[in-house]
Amino acid sequence: MIRIAIDGPSGAGKSTIAKKAAEKLHVDYIDTGAMYRAVGLKMRRENIQPEDEKALKDMLGRTEINFIDGKIYLDGRDVEKEIRTPEISAAASECAQVGAVREKLVAVQRKIGHEKSVIMDGRDIGTNVFKDAQFKFYLTAEPEERARRRYKELQERGEHVSYEEILKDVKDRDYRDTHRKLNPLKKADDAMEIDSTNMNIEEVVDEICTSILERCNHAQ
Ligand code: DC
Repeated sequence: MIRIAIDGPSGAGKSTIAKKAAEKLHVDYIDTGAMYRAVGLKMRRENIQPEDEKALKDMLGRTEINFIDGKIYLDGRDVEKEIRTPEISAAASECAQVGAVREKLVAVQRKIGHEKSVIMDGRDIGTNVFKDAQFKFYLTAEPEERARRRYKELQERGEHVSYEEILKDVKDRDYRDTHRKLNPLKKADDAMEIDSTNMNIEEVVDEICTSILERCNHAQ
């Protein structure tokens, strides 16, 4: 099995890039952020506070998360659209700090990665989920640029959120993701870092695919 890990802060373009690279390399793409978002969505729907670990554990016990054709399903329903709001971004970041949530989702991620070759993106793929991944990348971009990209994306989907609100959301999540106790966002020592502030999507996809193919050719 080939495992490719792409980690980095929110809005660095990981999912768009990972999806395109997966197509080029003929492997499946798994968006682990979507899994935390799905749990965050259910947490909000059931009015569960992230501090209430008992209620969260109970909820996780009756929660099913799957990927079908690259889309995230929560308890059998496609929630791809509902999870992409600032409200659910915040809920995802909150529940990602809870041990029981991480344990459950990391187990699901490892199971998927043992069944097939994947590109998985997230925060702790190279440092925790697949420490032994053959290829690791750490994708960054300046916060203002990441907020601009998210703003454009939401506008294109007809959702009206101010740029300031998004920038604040990006910065808050960066802080929470890098400062949390459990598996904080951090570059793996053996990951290749790519700063995409001044690069377009195709350039980043090319850099990742070229680096993987070169290393494969080298190993032959
Ligand atoms: O990549 P994203 O913005 O969709 O992720 C949503 C949240 O989930 C984010 O705040 C961090 C968290 N997350 C995580 O803790 N570990 C992962 N592997 C992926 C996401």
